[in-house]
Amino acid sequence: MYNVYRIREDFPILKTTINGKPLIYLDNSATTQKPAVVIDTICEYYKQYNANIHRSVHYLGVKATEIYEKVRGDIAKFINAPNSNCIVFTKGATESINLVAYGWGRKFLKEGDEILITLMEHHSNIVPWQMLSIEKGIKIKFVPLNDDGSLNLTAFKELLTERTKLVSITHVSNVLGIINPIKEIIDTSHKAGAIVLIDGAQSVPSIPIDVQNLDADFLVFSAHKMLGPTGIGILYGKEDLLEEMDPLLGGGDMIKKVTKDYSVWADIPYKFEGGTQNIAGVIGFGKAIEYLNNLGLEHIYKHEKTLVSYTLKRLLNIDGIKIYGPTTENLRLNIISFNYKDIHPHDVATILDREGIAIRAGHQCAQPLHSYLGISASCRASFYLYNTEEEVDKFIEALEKVNMVFKNGNRRTI
Ligand code: ALA
Repeated sequence: MYNVYRIREDFPILKTTINGKPLIYLDNSATTQKPAVVIDTICEYYKQYNANIHRSVHYLGVKATEIYEKVRGDIAKFINAPNSNCIVFTKGATESINLVAYGWGRKFLKEGDEILITLMEHHSNIVPWQMLSIEKGIKIKFVPLNDDGSLNLTAFKELLTERTKLVSITHVSNVLGIINPIKEIIDTSHKAGAIVLIDGAQSVPSIPIDVQNLDADFLVFSAHKMLGPTGIGILYGKEDLLEEMDPLLGGGDMIKKVTKDYSVWADIPYKFEGGTQNIAGVIGFGKAIEYLNNLGLEHIYKHEKTLVSYTLKRLLNIDGIKIYGPTTENLRLNIISFNYKDIHPHDVATILDREGIAIRAGHQCAQPLHSYLGISASCRASFYLYNTEEEVDKFIEALEKVNMVFKNGNRRTI
């Protein structure tokens, strides 16, 4: 039985007040809050067995290494990777994409090759490819969207040619909340000879993912969007792809042998983890994964869908609310971006903040999508496993206050 009120007890920050009001945290797509067990696990590492990994034979070093590597295995199981060699620790989903861009793209792509991304990508799945295209002369093509914001799959198939070497696509849009049909996209791309990178930053926290069933070539995601600490990301890659990729960072712990003239890289995944890693972060992430497993992703997913459905219904009853993306909850996950009349999103967010409600306002790190929508900014409410319908009610009431403040003009342009 999913008991959101009991779950909330696990999150110390949810007991705080902001501007004298109980915190209502609806900015989960930016980062999620952390349960006490994750915070305590990080403290425990520093208090009880702080040591570097893969280096020292003393008790602390061995213990830290064992726990760090156990987490790698737990993450492999979480996404059903064939084994833990396919799991690389990075500092975030952004670094994971950059690692593929430089470790794989720089080595294998050549002038005239094409990368297919979509108009709904986060900047982290646009900018690395643009940087690579300057260096390598590759072409980036954008799959357009349908009127409801969903991906135009007909255009996708037309844009996919023998020149397409990589399709790099978000599973869930961080603005529209749309869940893309990644299985179909992966299958179609493979038939055309392209490999596929899935940006799972917004989906892995809430949707059970099986990389083997999907046949995903790469999957990236971040710990901090799924109860873990900041500074930890994952790159999942098929073993053969990781084997042939170059590391991004040279240094300690990523080598088998170093001579004055050359070095031999360590095996995967270690060749990608040069230097001392964020050990505390990995260990904290392990506890977050355990917490999510205990709750069950399928229950979290259901809870979010119920909240989004409820919020959509309430928002659609407000005169002047423009929702981006589909208004049917079956097409979206836990994210609703909107604008309210012609009130600037920063003004909406500031007034909500006075009520203790945290949302994101701005371009949401997706400027090409905002340009396509004909706006420069939007408001975004995003939910996670601890949010409640009562919080949604307060959010809706607070929007009425926003309306009152701006009733008599005083509006900036969106
Ligand atoms: N990617 C995060 C967001 O969408 C930061 O807000």
